[in-house]
Amino acid sequence: MIQVDEKGFYGKFGGAYIPEMLHPNVEELKENYEAILASKEFQDEFRGLLKDYVGRPTPLYFASRLSEKYGAKIYLKREDLCHTGAHKVNNTIGQIILAKKLGKKRIIAETGAGQHGVATATVCALMGMECTVYMGEIDIARQRPNVERMKILGATVVPATSGSKTLKDATNEAMRAWINNPVDTHYIIGSVVGPHPYPEMVARFQSVISEEIKWQLREKEGRENPDIVIACVGGGSNAAGAFYHYYNTPEVRLVAAEAAGLGVLSGKSAATTALGTPGILHGSKTILMQTEDGQVVEPHSISAGLDYPGIGPVHAHLFDVGRGEFVAVEDKDAMVAGIELSKLEGIIPAIESAHALHALNMIEFAKDDVIVVNLSGRGDKDLETYIKWGQY
Ligand SMILES: Cc1ncc(COP(=O)(O)O)c(C=O)c1O
Repeated sequence: MIQVDEKGFYGKFGGAYIPEMLHPNVEELKENYEAILASKEFQDEFRGLLKDYVGRPTPLYFASRLSEKYGAKIYLKREDLCHTGAHKVNNTIGQIILAKKLGKKRIIAETGAGQHGVATATVCALMGMECTVYMGEIDIARQRPNVERMKILGATVVPATSGSKTLKDATNEAMRAWINNPVDTHYIIGSVVGPHPYPEMVARFQSVISEEIKWQLREKEGRENPDIVIACVGGGSNAAGAFYHYYNTPEVRLVAAEAAGLGVLSGKSAATTALGTPGILHGSKTILMQTEDGQVVEPHSISAGLDYPGIGPVHAHLFDVGRGEFVAVEDKDAMVAGIELSKLEGIIPAIESAHALHALNMIEFAKDDVIVVNLSGRGDKDLETYIKWGQY
């Protein structure tokens, strides 16, 4: 049974490993979030905004030309059509309503690809809240359009200049800022990472993805369960959302695509389950890439959203107990898969999502299996990377 326990553990992974000074913030969240999420008032506002503001339900699109190429029935869950261009907004809508109910005045967030930063800046504008987003210097350079979008939306973008200057460093900065402003500030974490209750809370906001897949597939195929669900994993929020209502349905295979960068053994990768070992990262026990003496190894991926040295604890557990099948997709293969989808279906995917698409080449399946690929985001933000890649 895949389920979080009271202390926030999925099997061996999870929990809340935090400095003393963050204890009150995390405790406040832990004590209140379940009751707030269960209230009718919260649900009405959350569901209403998902529908009218985000544009849910997102379509479950039968990709006929892609299906023909791979010899399976391939559906794309179109999270790329969410307002702001990715699944991230499902979570920020949930957390901003929660922050309001907790009486918070300021929002902080970290971002890698900038999608979570944009989704956070967007909901802060919507609710009239002050917003500060921490972002690695390297990501600021490679995701320029998203940086400008955040600024247009009224957010302050603070560069993280330490370490690899990417998502892990931005997360460190955001955690530090939270310690310094504990009472009036809510930290909107953008993935299923961080101390309990974040991983489960974010997964629950994103679980709308598999909730919709179930009824949409029933309409289209006469059955709720696909044979396979595929999603990319950075921290793992789009994957957790796409897997959530299938965790305990063992006949549905759950395939997670991590970023292998220049190759799993190249020293420039973010293939966490292939290379990682158990340890603590950003407040929870999980699997992460680290040296023998516990220093975090700098990750690399062409996609900013997958450039992270760990995975959320639920994914560490899915890996540990063999419930999830993990594949590691190299930069070049993701780029080819992104261009393939563009040409076959007229959809330019985010490079993160292109990793999930390439997994179709790495797993075995039977002819006419029903496969859902979670298309976590659109490629607009990645145009410069596609242009630099050039081979289209
Ligand atoms: C489009 C897209 N997909 C996937 C991810 C990875 O995040 P997660 O693993 O939490 O879904 C990101 C992160 O920024 C993203 O922008």
